[in-house]
Amino acid sequence: MIEFENLRKSNEPFFEDLRKSFEQTLNSGWYILGDNTKNFEKEFAAYFGVKQCIGVNSGLDALTLSLMSLDFEKGDEVIVPSNTFIATINSILQNQLKPVLVEPDIRTYNIDPNKIEQEITPRTKAITVVHLYGKPCDMDPILEIVKKYDLKLVEDCAQAHGAMYKSKKVGTFGDLGAFSFYPTKNLGALGDGGAIVTNNKNLEKIIRKLRNYGSSVKYYNDLIGFNSRLDEMQAGFLLVKLKKLDEVNEHKRKLAQIYLKNLKDDFIKPIVDPDYYDVYHIFNVRHPNRDKLKQYLLENGVKTEIHYPVSPNKQKSMKGILDNVSCPISEEIHRTTLSLPISYFHIEDDIYKVVEIMNKF
Ligand SMILES: Cc1ncc(COP(=O)(O)O)c(C=O)c1O
Repeated sequence: MIEFENLRKSNEPFFEDLRKSFEQTLNSGWYILGDNTKNFEKEFAAYFGVKQCIGVNSGLDALTLSLMSLDFEKGDEVIVPSNTFIATINSILQNQLKPVLVEPDIRTYNIDPNKIEQEITPRTKAITVVHLYGKPCDMDPILEIVKKYDLKLVEDCAQAHGAMYKSKKVGTFGDLGAFSFYPTKNLGALGDGGAIVTNNKNLEKIIRKLRNYGSSVKYYNDLIGFNSRLDEMQAGFLLVKLKKLDEVNEHKRKLAQIYLKNLKDDFIKPIVDPDYYDVYHIFNVRHPNRDKLKQYLLENGVKTEIHYPVSPNKQKSMKGILDNVSCPISEEIHRTTLSLPISYFHIEDDIYKVVEIMNKF
C-alpha cells in the first residue's frame, strides 16, 4: 500500500532532534511563551527576511487575528477565493466581515486576478489571497489592484511555506502573511500551531496583544484578546524542522517532476511556470471520473485524498451566508480534483509506482 501520508515516517528523520528539544523544554520548566517561541519567531522572520513574526496557535487564528488587527468595521468586505479551505472564509466571518467570493483560474486553482475588480465596492477593505496547494498566486496584477483601490492584503500561506513568486517568498507581498503548522504542512508541528509574518511594527504590536488576552504587560489588558499563543513545546519542534524546510520543499518538487513528466495526458496536471517556485503541499490532478479513479487507485494499493470535496458556498455552515453565490469553476474543481501521494517520506520509486498504476486507468 502506498499511503497518502504517514506522519510518523515523515517525522522519523527528525526524531533524535525532536527528542532533544522535548527534553530541553521539559527541563527548562518554562512552558508558555519562552525561549523556543522567541527563537522560532526570530528564525521564521529571518527565513522570510521580514522584521516580525508572531507565533499563534493555529493557521485559522493567524488569519483571524491578522484581519482583526486591521480594525475594519462590521460588514466591511473582504475578497477571498471561492475554492479555498473553509478556514480562510471563517476568519472573515469571525471578524463580522463579509466574504466576497472570487472564482479561481482553473489552470492554477488560485484566485483569478481578472475577476477581482468587478467585485470591488466602496465597502471592500481587503483581499485575502490563498497560495493553494503550494502554488503562489499571480501577485503582480493583484498588487496593482491592491494599490489602485488602497486595499489591505493578507496572504494565506498555510499550504505554501517557502513558495516563491518571481524569487520572492509568499507571505512577504502583503501587509500580513498567515501560516499554519498543522502536522501535515510542509513545515508541520506535532500538534497545532500558526504564525503571522509582517514588516508592520504597529500591526505586530496589536497581534502580540490579541494572542495573549490583549496584554503586553501581565495583568494589564489593553484589548479584548484571546489565548492564541504558539505552544512552547511546538515552537521547539518547529525550530528543529525549520532548518530542513528547504530540503522538504526540494524533495516534494523532485517527486512532483516525476508526476509531471510521466503521467499520461488524460489527467489534467498542475501548470508549471518558471516564475513560480511551487512547493507542492498538495499535488493534484483533475479527471472527469475522479471518484472512479480514486476507487481504482485504492483497489490497486494507492491512497489518495480530495482537497476539497465540497465548495465553500455549498457547505452547510454557509447557509444564509453564501446561498446566492454561484461558483461554477470552484464546483468543477471540487468535483474533479484528486490529491496524489507526495509526502516527505515517499521515495521516487513510490511515485513511479503510482504513475504506472495511474497510466493504466
Ligand atoms: C489554506 C488554508 N488556510 C487555513 C488553514 C487553517 O490552518 P489550521 O488548521 O492550522 O487552523 C489551512 C489548513 O488547515 C489551510 O489549508
